[in-house]
Amino acid sequence: DTKPVIFSGMQPSSDSLQLGNFIGALSQWTKMQEDYDAIFCVVNMHAITVPQDPQGLVERTRRTAAQYIAAGIDPAKSTLFIQSHVPAHAQLAWVLNTITGFGEASRMTQFKDKSQKNGTDAASVGLFTYPVLMAADILLYQAETVPVGEDQRQHVELTRDLANRFNSRFGDTFVVPEAQIPKTVAKIYDLQNPTAKMSKSAETEAGLIKVLDPANVTKKKIMRAVTDDGTEIRFDRAEKPGVSNLLTILSVLGERSVASLETEFTGKGYGHLKQAVAEVVEETLAPVRARTEELMADPAELDRLLARGAERANDIANRTLDLVYERVGL
Ligand code: ADP
Ligand code: NA
Repeated sequence: DTKPVIFSGMQPSSDSLQLGNFIGALSQWTKMQEDYDAIFCVVNMHAITVPQDPQGLVERTRRTAAQYIAAGIDPAKSTLFIQSHVPAHAQLAWVLNTITGFGEASRMTQFKDKSQKNGTDAASVGLFTYPVLMAADILLYQAETVPVGEDQRQHVELTRDLANRFNSRFGDTFVVPEAQIPKTVAKIYDLQNPTAKMSKSAETEAGLIKVLDPANVTKKKIMRAVTDDGTEIRFDRAEKPGVSNLLTILSVLGERSVASLETEFTGKGYGHLKQAVAEVVEETLAPVRARTEELMADPAELDRLLARGAERANDIANRTLDLVYERVGL
């Protein structure tokens, strides 16, 4: 058909996705799969740019795919697969490496940030060239649109530059993709540190709502969320980041405006707000958790779904790769 192509993926970098991934990525993807020819990938080859425990990686990769499906990605409507099942990602990345400037790659701020932690000697060349693999992910599928967070803007810019460069050097080959950075999608903050974004790679888990955690664990975290020493339930990101974060979660998951929540909670305490947040989070995540466990308990079915996705992805990706090899003279 003629629907525009989108590509998106997440790393299997944790045993569970977190609420920010669910709200900021999975729910959006689930909506987008109706109007787009959507390609969703678990990017396990990106994950090995930092050390991974091999058995753990296998498990987290499957669990991540299961959570995509459990959250609403329909493998019959969308192409859902594991990156390493499609060798063309690595093959195209190599070709793109040869047209990427060393200085250009050195300017990627995410590499600078990540390598600063342990020094560039500890960082792998794979981590350095990560954005080129990401460019390959996108360009293989001739994606027009890449839904990403603000932090990925620079990588999509690089992807565009590489696509344009390849096209002008070797002839028209790639669609030049656009980043789609939704301004209206809520950003969720850490419950213990409500000015930092909630992240599955957070150093401590006390402020992290994990999709697969049991209800009582999540409830405890929400009831202990940092607020402030005031009493008023009002949305004010600067003065009341903790309360504002709780209002955001309740608003998004409960499908209510923040203004109507402020009215409803007038004169009530923070405990009431937390209670309501815990309830709506549980209502939202309980079915996702249950469906994930169901999929994990039936490895043959999950394998079947992922094999079907990989077959479709290989078809599309190999068509692009064949053209690239021919153009380059390989
Ligand atoms: P994490 O920090 O949990 O590893 P990533 O940075 O890998 O998450 O992002 C994966 C996807 O989830 C992206 O689409 C990103 O925009 C979305 N996302 C991650 N954290 C949040 C958050 N706290 N609020 C909203 N969306 C988020
Ligand atoms: Na991350």
